[in-house]
Amino acid sequence: MTTAQTEKLSMPSEIFDEMARKYKNGLGGAQNDIVRALLSHSKERHPIKSDSIIHDNACGPAVVTSEILTRGIDPLPHIFATDYAQGMVEIANSYKERGGWDTVSVQQMDGQALSFEDEKFTHSISSLGVFMFPDDKKGLAEMYRTLKPGGWVGVTSWSDVRWPTAAISTYEKLFPDAKEPIILPQVKNWMDPENCQKNLRQAGFHSIKVETIPCINRQPTKEMGASAFAEFLRHVSPTVKSWDDQTREEFMLSFRQLIEDMYSPSTNGSGVELTMYAIVTSGSK
Ligand SMILES: C[S@@+](CC[C@H](N)C(=O)[O-])C[C@H]1O[C@@H](n2cnc3c(N)ncnc32)[C@H](O)[C@@H]1O
Repeated sequence: MTTAQTEKLSMPSEIFDEMARKYKNGLGGAQNDIVRALLSHSKERHPIKSDSIIHDNACGPAVVTSEILTRGIDPLPHIFATDYAQGMVEIANSYKERGGWDTVSVQQMDGQALSFEDEKFTHSISSLGVFMFPDDKKGLAEMYRTLKPGGWVGVTSWSDVRWPTAAISTYEKLFPDAKEPIILPQVKNWMDPENCQKNLRQAGFHSIKVETIPCINRQPTKEMGASAFAEFLRHVSPTVKSWDDQTREEFMLSFRQLIEDMYSPSTNGSGVELTMYAIVTSGSK
């Protein structure tokens, strides 16, 4: 029996609408660690300055945007933050209003069909975004089209997001004779540095730099960390969605226990943490 069908699932924007409010806490700051690593590539090769024009593509709750805005660049550069999920756009807009982000424009937009003109941006960034588009090649082609010649591209993806191992183990334990694998939204052609480099090269980018980095999911308690992953799995796995309530709850109990065991006390003494691994890839047009 194969125990996991890892494929690119077409995830309608409604799934991300539902997850929007919980997304930020669920990853426990790991997403910011990843963006900081990505922005350090930009600093080396193509620093962001006041006159930069930046695309934060599949922005979620404006993660890239907010990291850029805290870098002390004065005056602030223009950032166009886009996402296809209305729920994410609303959160990004609420941050814009609260923070008085006058140089930021937030728009609902599919990354596979950007409505921006050719060669608009100096920096085109998609952290944990383009790799999960149903058509990631089209997403990269759109990033290429909208980037100025000589501009900088930065993308990130998961190398090991940890929860799939727990989901597969739980499935094997509860359904040892299952004929069908559990379906999980893992994206195979973005899970190792060689493939990530190839994806950018095939999209036309050059001078590609790629590295795998650890990032830390920090939570107040291991139970809260496990609940966040359980909630995510409920939304994204068609297998889990297809079960009746009792089967799903039995699975989740076991899954949550395995995730809890993965967390360890935080090195700074407060709460717990789980190390995940991401791939940070950047290049030039
Ligand atoms: C894992 S989140 C990443 C959010 C953020 N960039 C970060 O660094 O944490 C993935 C985001 O991609 C968005 N997304 C997925 N498919 C998309 C598409 N085709 N076009 C635009 N956004 C998309 C989702 O709505 C979600 O906000």
